[in-house]
Amino acid sequence: MQKKKKALEGPKIYPSVLAGDFGHLAQEAKRAEKAGADGLHLDVMDGHFVPNLTFGPKAVAAVNKATDLFLDVHLMIYNPFEFVEKFVEAGADRITFHLEATEDVMGTIRYIRKCGVQAGLAFCPETSAEMVDRFVDKVDAVLIMSVNPGFGGQTFMPNALDKIKFVRKLASRLPIQVDGGINDKTGAKCIKAGATELVAGTYLYKARDFKAALEALR
Ligand code: DX5
Ligand code: ZN
Repeated sequence: MQKKKKALEGPKIYPSVLAGDFGHLAQEAKRAEKAGADGLHLDVMDGHFVPNLTFGPKAVAAVNKATDLFLDVHLMIYNPFEFVEKFVEAGADRITFHLEATEDVMGTIRYIRKCGVQAGLAFCPETSAEMVDRFVDKVDAVLIMSVNPGFGGQTFMPNALDKIKFVRKLASRLPIQVDGGINDKTGAKCIKAGATELVAGTYLYKARDFKAALEALR
C-alpha cells in the first residue's frame, strides 16, 4: 500500500503591509496572497501607545474587499476594547492587542472572542514572558515582539528567543507569533525556539522576489 504523502508543514507566514506601498494597500494585499501567504498582518498604531500612526478600520475594510486572506490585525493602541467591534466589522479574523495597553486584559480577550474572531495577546520586548502565564489558556495566539513596536525595518532582538521557549513550555499547542526584524535567518531561529507564525514586513515587501523570500521563510 502506498503511503499517503504528508503535507509540507511549516510556519505560517504573515506579511506585514506596513512595509508595503500605502498608496496601493489593496494591491499589496493581493501581492501577499499571490505569493502564498497564510494571512496579512495589519499594524494599527495610535501615536500614543507607540510613537507612530498608521490606519484604522476603514483601511482594513478596503483591504478586506481586495483579498480573501486571513486578516491578522495587530493593535498598537491604548484602550483596544473600544475598537474591537469596528475592526471586526472591517473584516478582522484575529485581533491582537498589547498586554501593556489596557488594564482589562481578560475583558478584552473575552470581548474579542464574543465578537466571533480570534484573540491574540502581544508583549513588548521589555515585558517579562512570565506575565503570559495567566492568559495562555484564554487566548488563540501569543505575539512576541522582537523589536520595540512602532516601526518596521528594525533589528531583531535575540531575547525574543528565550521568551518563545518560555511560552512554548507553558503551552505546547498554542500558536506563537513573532514580529519584528524577521528574515530567513532570524525566522529560522524563532521556529527552532518554538514559534509557529512569522510576521515579516521589510524582508518580504522590499525583496526583489516576494514569493522567493516568502518561501525562504518557510
Ligand atoms: C512593528 C510592527 C511590525 C512591523 C515589522 O511595530 O508590529 O509588524 O511591520 O516590520 P519588519 O518586518 O520590517 O521588522
Ligand atoms: Zn505587527
